[in-house]
Amino acid sequence: MKILVTGGTGYIGSHTVVELQNKGFEVLIVDNLSNSSAEIVEKIKKITGIKPVLEVFDLGDREKTVGFFKRNSDIKGVIHFAAFKAVGESVEKPLKYYRNNLVSLMNILEGMSETGVQNIVFSSSCTVYGQPDELPVSEKAPIKKAESPYGNTKQISEDIILDTIKASDIQGIALRYFNPIGAHETALIGELPLGVPNNLVPFITQTAIGIRDQLKVFGNDYPTPDGTPIRDYIHVVDLAKAHVIAVNRMIMNSMKKPFEVFNLGTGKGYSVLEVIHAFEKVSGQKLNYKIVGRREGDIIQVWADPSFSNKELGWKAEKGLDEMVASAWKWEKAYRAENK
Ligand code: UD1
Repeated sequence: MKILVTGGTGYIGSHTVVELQNKGFEVLIVDNLSNSSAEIVEKIKKITGIKPVLEVFDLGDREKTVGFFKRNSDIKGVIHFAAFKAVGESVEKPLKYYRNNLVSLMNILEGMSETGVQNIVFSSSCTVYGQPDELPVSEKAPIKKAESPYGNTKQISEDIILDTIKASDIQGIALRYFNPIGAHETALIGELPLGVPNNLVPFITQTAIGIRDQLKVFGNDYPTPDGTPIRDYIHVVDLAKAHVIAVNRMIMNSMKKPFEVFNLGTGKGYSVLEVIHAFEKVSGQKLNYKIVGRREGDIIQVWADPSFSNKELGWKAEKGLDEMVASAWKWEKAYRAENK
């Protein structure tokens, strides 16, 4: 069964391609390589023994996207990762984010409609909940006004998919991720941010390996037990496995309604200092960090209620924090050793 993975050479995409191939799916990747490299397909081949097909073009190009679907109308499902994701940059360049993230989605949905491809899994985010009024946060929690154009593209994309579903035979699943971290156990694929990382764990591992001088901890005066913000970190491989289950659920016609939403988190929150201490424990080295002022737009704390996903998808995140940071560290070391 053929699955299109957009953004399949990216961080979450590449891990999902591996899990799809492990389950016997045939994978086609479309990626414009704007934030990733074509070499990833070789790494995937090393892990699974199968080299996925990679087509390099921009999904913002309607003609190319629809043309792709016309050539591949036997696709059984689309998993759509391809998008820009830097929150800060989206504030500086909102139109870049709206154009890229929304136009590509619309082109994909048009391509699907024109060729009878029915199933789409969408890469959404817990950012749609903002700072929730109640914790843990379930799928029933209200959507809050987005803090950034990036966050807004996730909200608008969910609306675009829902409206399209109402008017067609397409069905969709939005997966709202909490904070994906970690890397594949082989350390052949992992998170590779362009330039200075925005996210906590790549900044930690790059500091530890000596690429960055010091990690800045953005605030320790939050109303949390140790004063630093709390997030629900989830291992990227656990996350990837949920995508395989979701796309299979659609193909098997097991959906309860044509648009479903699932939270993907562990249900457990950790503070920034707890993540740092877990890293120090598994790596056996002290991390150079300093407490600085808060980062604008950061919420205090969020963690998932994953019970609906656990029950409906028969999926549960299995890996704990130590394993997550250990795998991220192993990946950082392996990558730098190979790319000296
Ligand atoms: C961010 C985005 C979120 C996006 C997600 C994945 C914001 C407000 N949210 O989540 O929409 O889906 O990335 O890309 O940007 N931290 C430090 N020092 C650092 C980096 C981070 O102290 O150098 C702290 C942050 O203040 C936060 C925690 O680490 O408390 C996690 O930060 P990060 O990894 O950037 O994820 P989020 O901000 O939760």
